[in-house]
Amino acid sequence: MKYDFDKVIDRFGTGALKYDALGERYGNPRLLPLWVADLDFETPPFVVKALKQRIEHPIYGYTVMPADYWNVVARWIADHHGWQVDTEWLTYIPGIVKGIGMAINVFVAPDEKVIIQPPVYHPFRLTPEGNGREVVYNPLIKNVDGSYSMDFDNLAEVCDEKCRMLILSNPHNPAGIVWDRDTLTRLADFCYDHNIIVISDEIHCDMALWGNKHIPFASVSPRAAACSITFGAPSKTFNIAGIVSSYAIVSDARLRDRFYSWLTANELNDASIFAPIATMAAFNEGEEWRRQMLAYVEGNIDYVIDFCRDRIPGIKPFRPQASFLVWLDCTALNLPHDELVALFVDKAGLALNDGAMFGKEGEGYMRLNVGAPRSIIIEAMQRLEAAVASL
Ligand SMILES: Cc1ncc(COP(=O)(O)O)c(C=O)c1O
Repeated sequence: MKYDFDKVIDRFGTGALKYDALGERYGNPRLLPLWVADLDFETPPFVVKALKQRIEHPIYGYTVMPADYWNVVARWIADHHGWQVDTEWLTYIPGIVKGIGMAINVFVAPDEKVIIQPPVYHPFRLTPEGNGREVVYNPLIKNVDGSYSMDFDNLAEVCDEKCRMLILSNPHNPAGIVWDRDTLTRLADFCYDHNIIVISDEIHCDMALWGNKHIPFASVSPRAAACSITFGAPSKTFNIAGIVSSYAIVSDARLRDRFYSWLTANELNDASIFAPIATMAAFNEGEEWRRQMLAYVEGNIDYVIDFCRDRIPGIKPFRPQASFLVWLDCTALNLPHDELVALFVDKAGLALNDGAMFGKEGEGYMRLNVGAPRSIIIEAMQRLEAAVASL
């Protein structure tokens, strides 16, 4: 079956954050929204069908997990990432950012610290800060070709005995990096030696592009497995973020007992009625849809890269290795950051993520969500070309 990703769907008035919060966040409710990281493609029909089937039964009372649920999740991970996950390592969590917050509360004492590597997904900073934990920064190194590397020399310098956790974006948001095995192994060795727990946020892991291969952090070595907690979800790939269906994977028994007993005591690992239904439909029936969706996204990314090369050379998109977010290097436009944001919002009428929200390393950058019908991406690029031409 050929799925239709060209279809434009009106999401205004559905409570969609990406659309209905435009007025509040950008001061203009009619911008073209290319910010929040969900897809403007229809959630796959097999997921909708499974949910509808359950909705038709008119009682939505307390619910148990389907017996096969964790086998389905473990099989998906083994088939896609070659990581053999024991079902007892898995538990439900009510969202990945919430998972990060919960892990901080369990493992990081109030006077201890959390390391992040900006530019990176902003809740990695906001969640520890909001919980009163100090954040330690180990910025990524920007290479001449626009790619990023981890800075192990600086990590050794900024890390002290109070650093208890490092939050890793794997694959990386906002630059779409699929971290290589050497980098992950080196990070695992460092963190293991320094008694640091790595939270590996792998929410984008099922969207590697152009033959890139996601490597689960915990799978790279016994030391990585011993010092890490992995979070995953079908939410980004299958466009079901509103259903809230995330999971944690902890292979180390000591870490697992400590984390999962706290979750259980607070009933934070009880799934809602719809989460397992949507996840099982996605993982049991979703492979073909996932492949077609990613091929479409690759086409959108190629379009943006070619367009900028030919018509907006002052903007250099970084080609992501995973997911549907494109990190736009706009530094060659030589605009102060607030004027860059105004160019996109006021002149082009576009709502992208301001690069600076991912850290000061993101100044001069914007993050573009290309998980949308091609016609929307074309319109966005034309508006941007006109706005830049007017400078
Ligand atoms: C790296 C990363 N982690 C977590 C999330 C959000 O996950 P959740 O909605 O499960 O908290 C996002 C959403 O954009 C993300 O990009």
